[in-house]
Amino acid sequence: MRNVDSAIGKIHQGDARAFMSELPGESFDLIVCDGPYAVTTHEWDNVADIQHFNLELLKSFSRLLKPGGAAYLFGKPDSVDFIDYRPWLTLQSRIVWYQPSRLAQGRVSYTNNYDVICYFTKGKAKTFNLDAIRVPQLVELAHRLRCENVPSVRNGKYGKTVFNPNGKNPGDVWGDIKQLTYKSKELVSRELLNTIQKPEKLMERLIKASSKPGDLVFDPFCGAGTVPVVCERLDRRFVACEINPDYCRIAEARMTKAASSEESAENLFEFSTHGRNGRPVISQARLV
Ligand SMILES: C[S@@+](CC[C@H](N)C(=O)[O-])C[C@H]1O[C@@H](n2cnc3c(N)ncnc32)[C@H](O)[C@@H]1O
Repeated sequence: MRNVDSAIGKIHQGDARAFMSELPGESFDLIVCDGPYAVTTHEWDNVADIQHFNLELLKSFSRLLKPGGAAYLFGKPDSVDFIDYRPWLTLQSRIVWYQPSRLAQGRVSYTNNYDVICYFTKGKAKTFNLDAIRVPQLVELAHRLRCENVPSVRNGKYGKTVFNPNGKNPGDVWGDIKQLTYKSKELVSRELLNTIQKPEKLMERLIKASSKPGDLVFDPFCGAGTVPVVCERLDRRFVACEINPDYCRIAEARMTKAASSEESAENLFEFSTHGRNGRPVISQARLV
């Protein structure tokens, strides 16, 4: 069994499932899992049975989480259909990450324009920092003033619906965080658009909600390193894994850049679309 302390703050290059089997149980406060969706033509996304794949991941997460810890599993709308995860984790919410601007594709059915982020806990959640993730109320003044005369949806009692000037619970449909575009400053490479790199704001909301400063966060499929970068910024410790050595280097370089904000992205990343097989060319890296 690997000592988890020796893996903290590093990106392990290798297969996440093998790596997880070496880690001791009850190590993590939070797991953010943005792995294969089984929808693209990437070799790493070629998973024959995504529900079974996800069930095996959830079993591992159940072992690796501390009691009350949380796991977020990214995927498409059917990512946890027809599997019984209940012996291992409790599904608290299926968050819909809504992308109204996603290009309409296909003519035979409705274009899918959302991802699902399944929020699981190991027993009762030990952390849910609602105040850290409140979003603007976006209601008219007249409605705000009427709030206390609105009956509670739970028990019909009046006086429970109080307007909070600090904002409201973001709910489970998130349309306020846009996917990255070619113009996004945080995009590390055009190659990583859409299928790989997620917005920092999205990971930030999950990490702020379900962990505290000093907590240990695990990202088994870290790609371009969005979760590690956000963890460092928010004073969370992390352990990360990624199978592709190029992405490991990108993530490492990105963390170096985040740590020394004076340096510009251009100094750290040197991507070339003319590289072999269209792969990014990396100028600076530190691998574990
Ligand atoms: C959706 S991307 C993650 C993106 C990441 N959240 C970000 O913002 O950059 C999924 C990643 O999982 C990696 N991956 C796929 N199978 C893996 C495996 N068995 N072990 C480790 N990493 C894997 C892929 O190489 C890819 O970088």
